[in-house]
Amino acid sequence: MKYDILVIGSGIAGMMAAIEAKELGSNIAIVTKKSPMANNSFMAKGGINAALNNMEDGDSIEHHIQDTLKGGVGIADEEAVRIFCEQAPQVVRELHRRFKVPFNTLPNGKLAQRPFGGTKFKRTVYAADATGPAIMKALNKALKDLGIDIIKNHLALNLLVNDGKIAGVTFLDEKTNELRVIQAKAVIVATGGYAGLYKGYTTNVNDATGDGVAMGLRAGLEGMDMEFIQFHPTGLEGSNYLISEAARGEGGKLINSEGKEFVDELNTRDFVTRAIVKQLQRGKKVYLDLTDIPEDIINTKLINLKKRVKSLKGIDIAKEPIPITPLAHYTMGGIKTDTYCFTDIEGLFYAGEAGNNGVNGANRLGGNSLSEGAVFGKIAGYQAVKYSHRQQSYVDLPNEQIEKDKDLLNKLNNTKIDAKELKHKLGDLLFNKVGIIRNGYQLKKALETLNEMKNNLESENDSSIQEKIELINGIDIATAIAKAALDREESRGAHFRLDFPESDHAFLGHTYTKLN
Ligand code: FUM
Repeated sequence: MKYDILVIGSGIAGMMAAIEAKELGSNIAIVTKKSPMANNSFMAKGGINAALNNMEDGDSIEHHIQDTLKGGVGIADEEAVRIFCEQAPQVVRELHRRFKVPFNTLPNGKLAQRPFGGTKFKRTVYAADATGPAIMKALNKALKDLGIDIIKNHLALNLLVNDGKIAGVTFLDEKTNELRVIQAKAVIVATGGYAGLYKGYTTNVNDATGDGVAMGLRAGLEGMDMEFIQFHPTGLEGSNYLISEAARGEGGKLINSEGKEFVDELNTRDFVTRAIVKQLQRGKKVYLDLTDIPEDIINTKLINLKKRVKSLKGIDIAKEPIPITPLAHYTMGGIKTDTYCFTDIEGLFYAGEAGNNGVNGANRLGGNSLSEGAVFGKIAGYQAVKYSHRQQSYVDLPNEQIEKDKDLLNKLNNTKIDAKELKHKLGDLLFNKVGIIRNGYQLKKALETLNEMKNNLESENDSSIQEKIELINGIDIATAIAKAALDREESRGAHFRLDFPESDHAFLGHTYTKLN
């Protein structure tokens, strides 16, 4: 099978990349681990940021740039941030006008915008509290209308590289458990982040296991700022359900078990999360109180939240506070790219959460992820088309790697590994030792345990090959997170070290982590 351009991942970045490349005339396919809707973009509820100033509160692109740079705590890349904030308004309008995403509108017909954290402006465009689903349904329709090949149930295994150039990708066909090779002149990896590895402590879909990031690390690429894991302040206690920042944007308050407010709930997520952890460490419980929000707002703008919390906990959010706890939500780190999504392998691009061009620095602002994924997905699509046009022929496939991957699948087929159980153990380890509050001793212990895990995978019980691959990917990524977190002997954004609680100018830059 051969394509000009292969897009891996069907979140917002992958879909925008695929649409852009197809419209520019390329022969392309989009490959997805499950189905086009099973991803974190679909799970993003609260909204998508763009400085439209529709609420006439003085917002501007320059304010969006400055807020994003400030949120990134000194290490966000200014060029990437400028491109993102400048292009976000046009991309959001395109989603609305061209792809017909049903965003909420104002009486004057303009897109409505709500407050989110890390800014004093109302910048977040929304479709009630189901913005991700609204966008993804519209983009999925566009994929179909454009006749883009959608290859489902394929887990990306390894990048096929020959003489520094991309030649294709190997996949596990999840239906047959066989190896599948797809050749391409250019490849865009948009497989999402790795917060799902914090299993049991994450808002992410099960499939967010960072496979594309692990694949990049295995190919010798650098992970950049892998230590920065964003914990969303408001997960529903005892579940993986994300209570959207929209609830605080619409006026929800954070209170402790004594009924006291203890933090500005619209501060940046790293700050709010640590304030919550402090309360929890003092033995208090923390609640999100929406009881002062008028019921008509709840019934229109937070209606999905109302239904879900009722069904999961039996709580009526209009009448009772909701018990919450922070959950791993997003990863700022990823495979290092330049501003335009190019990696160190020719013809290979990373976009969205899987890549890192520095746009989020040490902490991403709520609402920036969907627009960032859309903007850089489109850019990656455009750049991949330009690149593939310059290639006269396909790069020869490296047969040695293909044979290795066949052997790997054979081996995994014949080795019992309780990957299901071990993925839970990995989640516990990450949360407890590489979590919100870290220290050098625990990080070293985590690295020891990860090493033991990697060398002792066999067990009595077995799991599917897919889960085994995800586990191996997860251990590699967890090792990269812990190493980078150990190296960064300071606290900045989402990375907090008890043994180095201050930010240190010596670390005003990025960490780069290779697998070995
Ligand atoms: O809270 C939320 O709705 C999440 C949005 C985001 O992560 O950008």
